[in-house]
Amino acid sequence: MSVAQPFECFEVGEQTGLSALRKVTRPAPAIPPGEVLVRVRAAALNHRDLTIAKGGYGPKKPENRIPGGDGAGEVVALGEGVSGIEVGTRVTAPHFVSWIDGEFQPGVFMADLGSSRDGWFSEYILLPANALVTLPESMSFEAAAAWGAAGITAWTVLQTLGQIKPGDTILTLGTGGVSILALQIATMAGARVAITSSSDDKLAVARELGADITVNYRSNPDWAGAIRAATGGRGVDIVVETVGLATLTQSLSCCAPNARVGLLGALGGRPEQGADLGGLILGNLVLKGITSGNRRMLEELLRAADANQVEPKIDRRFSFAETLAAYEYLAGAGHVGKVVIAG
Ligand SMILES: NC(=O)c1ccc[n+]([C@@H]2O[C@H](COP(=O)([O-])OP(=O)(O)OC[C@H]3O[C@@H](n4cnc5c(N)ncnc54)[C@H](OP(=O)(O)O)[C@@H]3O)[C@@H](O)[C@H]2O)c1
Repeated sequence: MSVAQPFECFEVGEQTGLSALRKVTRPAPAIPPGEVLVRVRAAALNHRDLTIAKGGYGPKKPENRIPGGDGAGEVVALGEGVSGIEVGTRVTAPHFVSWIDGEFQPGVFMADLGSSRDGWFSEYILLPANALVTLPESMSFEAAAAWGAAGITAWTVLQTLGQIKPGDTILTLGTGGVSILALQIATMAGARVAITSSSDDKLAVARELGADITVNYRSNPDWAGAIRAATGGRGVDIVVETVGLATLTQSLSCCAPNARVGLLGALGGRPEQGADLGGLILGNLVLKGITSGNRRMLEELLRAADANQVEPKIDRRFSFAETLAAYEYLAGAGHVGKVVIAG
């Protein structure tokens, strides 16, 4: 089966910057066996989309790669051999579409939406049927898209690695997508949240979302000291390290004994001097690299968000036609939470 009409999508182009992104029209796709065709209803941007557009995410992708790791939509047609899913079902999927459950394997990068496989910045997307997650009835397409990769990653750090429990204090850095969704997931779990930002206005938004400890890292270079002091000297139990090696020494310095640290981002680049890991031994800490997560984690996250009626923080919505403006907006780093494409 195939969709009857040609469809519009974006392509990464030469990956020399955002200006290389282009909108094209493609013929209706044939649906491979075991896959479904989904009409895209919402998509969400991640920092990674900026990196891919600049050619900085591993080897350059084919110029006709459709970007976008996160989205949600309706199944409109089934490939041969697909059963147990109906046309009209509202679905999303993890961006690593072959990682269904279990431990990370490097092979998941071979089927990565928006990177090694066509993604969501399109009117239609092909997805393996076994990667699909059905949306909870009351969850919007926008919310499901927004939770996506940033939510799975925050979930992996807080739940899988962090074993978060009520009364824990977590630290998350900056007010971008991963960090703000981590704040929201931690609040759902009954934990206290410490968060940093370059902006007092953004910290005010974080407080509205439930943050307990807020520190401006620009005006307070010893932000880690401020966070430790705000926990009565004890420190934090889990760190969502979105900035990476540039802030790791400071993050470790405000950890409580036995804290768990998920190293997942590279916003701060690669510092000239390596991080000081001495605190790992003294504090009996756990430091783990994090590579997103699997379909089961996405299912668990959406179920938790639905049960608690928590909406992911969406900073701004753009139409499909405004996708390039959405990229520019994310690159400007004025957002708090997620930037979404819908309608
Ligand atoms: N390993 C994985 O599986 C995985 C998954 C998702 C994302 N990531 C990575 O995680 C990072 C965050 O992704 P995202 O999509 O959440 O990004 P994003 O939405 O673009 O977040 C950017 C925000 O981070 C803050 N920030 C930037 N530089 C900073 C610095 N040097 N120190 C402190 N905060 C800084 C800024 O917020 P303020 O203005 O508030 O400071 C900025 O607005 C990226 O490096 C991304 O590649 C990794």
